[in-house]
Amino acid sequence: MSKKVSRRQFAKIAGLSAAGMASPVQSAEAKPQAAARQAGGFPPGFVWGTATSSYQVEGAVNEDGRGPSIWDSFTRIPGKIEDGSNGDRANEHFHRYKGDIRLIRELGCKAYRFSVAWPRVFPDGDGKPNPKGLDFYNKLIDELLANGITPWLTLYHWDLPQSLQDRFGGWRSAETCKAFGSYAAYVAERLTDRVKHVFTLNESGRFIYFGYGSGIDAPGLQLSQAEVNQARHNSALAHGLAVQAVRAHGRSGTKVGPAENIDACIPAIDTPENVRAAAIALREMNASYLGVILEGRYTDAFLKFAGANAPKFSAEDLKIISSPVDFLGLNIYAPQHYVVASDQGAGFALLPFPKSFPHMNSDWLRIGPETIYWVPRLAAGIWKTGPIYISENGTSGEDEVGPDGKIHDTDRIMYLRNYLAQLQRATSEGVPVKGYFLWSLMDNFEWVFGLNKRFGLYHVNFDTQVRTPKLSASFYRNVIATNAAGA
Ligand code: NOJ
Repeated sequence: MSKKVSRRQFAKIAGLSAAGMASPVQSAEAKPQAAARQAGGFPPGFVWGTATSSYQVEGAVNEDGRGPSIWDSFTRIPGKIEDGSNGDRANEHFHRYKGDIRLIRELGCKAYRFSVAWPRVFPDGDGKPNPKGLDFYNKLIDELLANGITPWLTLYHWDLPQSLQDRFGGWRSAETCKAFGSYAAYVAERLTDRVKHVFTLNESGRFIYFGYGSGIDAPGLQLSQAEVNQARHNSALAHGLAVQAVRAHGRSGTKVGPAENIDACIPAIDTPENVRAAAIALREMNASYLGVILEGRYTDAFLKFAGANAPKFSAEDLKIISSPVDFLGLNIYAPQHYVVASDQGAGFALLPFPKSFPHMNSDWLRIGPETIYWVPRLAAGIWKTGPIYISENGTSGEDEVGPDGKIHDTDRIMYLRNYLAQLQRATSEGVPVKGYFLWSLMDNFEWVFGLNKRFGLYHVNFDTQVRTPKLSASFYRNVIATNAAGA
């Protein structure tokens, strides 16, 4: 999320009103079972992981036949990236992956979420595959497994092949969805002998609105609301095609689901009325992606609000989009809307944030640990989801190497400890959260902020490529070892 766009503007770009839309929705908030199992920690078998993405860590953008992506082009435009950097080199993970896997092992993590760079596998996005491009992921997966780490693969983390942007307008066109389906089939066929969990698209909520609405992210377009809604619809269609491709071409038993930056709605005060209002708000604020994926329809309120700007779609589209998923991946960082019950509209109102609301060192990263309790709880109730995985959570920090050579990131530990305590609250109440991926394993290329925002458990010196564990790495190792958030 960029500091240049507030959450309120973000909701506006999404075509939703802060006052609450007319909706016939009756809250589907399901009371989690009170069974306080595992009061002292997380359930046995809880998956602990870390996450990265291809463009943010790999570098080697011209090696082994990789084609250009929209981020290669975008980062070349002067002024787009805060520090003028790009992903050409990033963490040199393409060459240093073995050492990086040792870092994951040292944390005691048993799972690692990474993404495949589409333009490595299909340099033009479609057409002729580049088997050499897939070799890197074969080696990566084998090395993970040799270290006792389970690979969790993301098919799309924003590095769209430039050729699809040039020829079809990227996510503006259903041609890109088709190409994504074929790419997903190709990857599933070749990697699901070892990869058992596949995330389809990462954060449609961000790459569509910021890439095609505000123009902050690649490809940097500022389109009309109708075009943005269509692109959003296309991303949901691409998700559905990828689910079908994994089912048809992957080994049986391969699990597949989205990884979305769900628009996070939280009851401002824990009363039954506010909780119900927050559930209605969560459903409506996420109607354009998670809603249509999980319900197979756009809500009436969404369509009414979008009016002439509503996406054009067929019944067949809705069928594809709502292909059943095995899990729901949620990227949860910050509260986006505190909600109270209202007599108006659909029965909820979104409160404004006071100027003094605290945040971490990224402006958008407001501190609201209860977000990671309420959002999975409400989502599980509304959509009767299967397993939920926190596909990302973490924070940036102004991490400096001290004179003692160490990084004492007690701010990150504070953030993580509080979020994990709330996550433990959720699992102890029976909310079906089965795993957690900390963003990020190591500092990396943070999109428009370049190398300035550090999210890693390991500090990276981008000149020497030396990785140094921060204090938070020890904190996370302890969480994993005890299977508990700690006090
Ligand atoms: C979400 C994105 O998926 C990831 O790429 C990004 O680095 C983090 N959030 C932090 O902003």
